[in-house]
Amino acid sequence: MNSTRFLCAAAALAAAATAYGQQPAPAAGNADAAKPHISMCTGCHTIPGYQASFPRVYRVPKIGGQSAKYLEAALQGYKKGERDHPTMQAIAKGLTDQQIADIAAYYAARGSEAAK
Ligand code: HEC
Repeated sequence: MNSTRFLCAAAALAAAATAYGQQPAPAAGNADAAKPHISMCTGCHTIPGYQASFPRVYRVPKIGGQSAKYLEAALQGYKKGERDHPTMQAIAKGLTDQQIADIAAYYAARGSEAAK
């Protein structure tokens, strides 16, 4: 992940937040609001059988179609350091609780087909 991409995603989210500004904040995850963040994840999570090689070879789990509750708990686990993986921890720490809920809703709605 490079920081330029991350900043673009943040800017897009800010724009989306403005567009949604008239409506009351959604209590649960909003899959549409997650879209600006998904570009951070696709590099690893969309390639079937892809293996991240740092700090050792990991098999990247498929996340599309898992339950939103599970995905949210997993991301919160990385954020709090309960789950141990350096890249996922760094990513999760950069997300707010609302963004985590949005991303969880997005991937849960993708069905079991790998997210594209
Ligand atoms: C650099 C590659 C990489 C990127 C980018 C990445 N992930 Fe991951 N992700 C992994 C790996 C590797 C694991 C497995 C880590 C482990 O064993 O705990 C993982 C695990 C997960 C899990 C836990 C899945 C499970 O079945 O327990 C979730 C949820 C997840 N990632 C979501 C995301 C989201 C959402 C993003 C984007 C915001 C993202 N990841 C970006 C490599 C990545």
